[in-house]
Amino acid sequence: MLQQLKETAKHGLAAGDAHAPERPDWTIDQGWANYTQEEHGVWRTLFERQSKLLPGRACDEFIRGMQDLPIGPEQIPDFEQMSKVLKKRTGWEVVAVPGLVPDDVFFGHLANRRFPAGQFIRKPHELDYLEEPDVFHDVFGHVPMLMNPVIADYIQAYGEGGLRASRLGVLEKLARVYWYTVEFGLVQQSDGLRIYGAGIASSASETRFSVESDSPNRVRFELERVMQTNYRIDDFQETYFVLGHLDELLELAQIDFAPLYDRLKGAPEHDAGAVLASDQVLTRGTLAYHDAKREKALA
Ligand SMILES: [Fe+2]
Repeated sequence: MLQQLKETAKHGLAAGDAHAPERPDWTIDQGWANYTQEEHGVWRTLFERQSKLLPGRACDEFIRGMQDLPIGPEQIPDFEQMSKVLKKRTGWEVVAVPGLVPDDVFFGHLANRRFPAGQFIRKPHELDYLEEPDVFHDVFGHVPMLMNPVIADYIQAYGEGGLRASRLGVLEKLARVYWYTVEFGLVQQSDGLRIYGAGIASSASETRFSVESDSPNRVRFELERVMQTNYRIDDFQETYFVLGHLDELLELAQIDFAPLYDRLKGAPEHDAGAVLASDQVLTRGTLAYHDAKREKALA
């Protein structure tokens, strides 16, 4: 069973001081020359599987970003080489971290256009299981979208917003926005519903599930609705929120969240699979996938 990567929920959890690397920003050397043939082989398997699945399912910006990056099936990308291309395009670079990092470190990197990527790769027997974001999720899933100027600005703004939200103690509400956009976002394009979220784009089974299954709800993205909605950290999403256009993220990056946090204080929280009367529903899901799992858990 796929245990989808849910790293944003866990940034702080693995961040005990015992694991803190020597540098205060938690970066480490990628040590590219030390990857083994087996590790490059895992990258190849995952790369080839996703590259077959994503045309016609991922958004045009993802496909274009991937084409323009020095990333291929042969080997785990060298962050330095990749960052040269990325930096020229949108001013971002990729830095290596050992795994999960504390929230403030994570947001600090994003606010400065540095994307922290797990240095390690999952084991061959764990292709669909991840407890921490690895190099495949972080690079294959995230970096193509960072080649897009809209996403590049949006994720930087999220980093700045995350630092503020941490201080205000309202991180959970902001994290939901990241979750339902950067990690699990869908976008309506002229030829259909497409993936732009890295959590989906780096997962074979959720790639299919998110755009093809009858089970999940697909609801038009609405900021306050999303900020009140719980998400699945252990499985596929029960609801995907859909942008009409990626440019909507530009507006989102400019919103002052402080009044929203005040307004939503004490407001009701919605279940991950809830559909509200106020929702603009694109697909009302059967929820069959998650209902079957819930029944099994009760049996
Ligand atoms: Fe991620």
